[in-house]
Amino acid sequence: MKLPIKHAIFEKNSIFLLLGILVMVSIGGLVEIVPLFYLENTIEKVEGMRPYTPLELSGRNIYVREGCYVCHSQMIRSTRDEVERYGHYSLAAESMYDHPFQWGSKRNGPDLARVGNKYSDEWHVEHMTKPSSVVPETIMPGYPFLAQTKLKYANIALDLRTNQIIGVPYTDQQVENAIADLKAQLDEDSDGYDAFIERYPSAQVRNFDGNPAQITELDALIAYLQMLGTLVDFSLYNQSENNR
Ligand code: HEC
Repeated sequence: MKLPIKHAIFEKNSIFLLLGILVMVSIGGLVEIVPLFYLENTIEKVEGMRPYTPLELSGRNIYVREGCYVCHSQMIRSTRDEVERYGHYSLAAESMYDHPFQWGSKRNGPDLARVGNKYSDEWHVEHMTKPSSVVPETIMPGYPFLAQTKLKYANIALDLRTNQIIGVPYTDQQVENAIADLKAQLDEDSDGYDAFIERYPSAQVRNFDGNPAQITELDALIAYLQMLGTLVDFSLYNQSENNR
């Protein structure tokens, strides 16, 4: 059978065939991917998610700076062993305010997506200062300097503003009050407490490193760790799954 002339060009010439494949695959890829950028519901909204408080965001910056993601993931897969060990699998919405995301690709240590409220603040202080004091067989390095280092928060409002520009729904009020809110989260008795809780419902307020005299990097890091995985109330989700 004689091939129609146009098709014969592709069959007889491998470069044309390659280019042809490339064009077709690109079109297929674009058709699948481009709508995701425009769909409002690409990430299903879940109740409870809110932007990080200025203190939590500072803690997150320290988490990134120290490379904690090199050993820890923050993404619970939907397999049975993971769910039994760590809790409900991670939802896309839970990392929607992470820039960049902290899913990680390696687990020398456990997943941290739901480590919030698993341990006391005192445990974290001990563990971050000298991990082997609470887990003798650990290979995690200590970060004793965090408790000694004053937190640099002069630029935290700009940090919120940057997140706002790339789509995190911080209000202008939250940006303007960033430093006041950062301090308010460390002291239940402060004047700023009520305004802070209104801006960040469900935020945990207390002195995290046990040293009220100074705002340290450890305060911020523990505030961040204690928040991880606590924003969404999973008792509602688990219930609907059990009823199935
Ligand atoms: C060299 C790898 C390594 C690095 C880097 C590392 N960790 Fe770990 N981490 C571990 C290991 C292993 C464990 C499990 C044993 C233990 O609890 O110490 C662990 C445990 C933890 C736990 C307790 C988790 C649980 O559910 O029991 C927390 C919280 C934690 N790490 C936070 C951090 C933070 C924050 C950083 C960065 C400042 C960090 N880790 C850096 C290896 C690491």
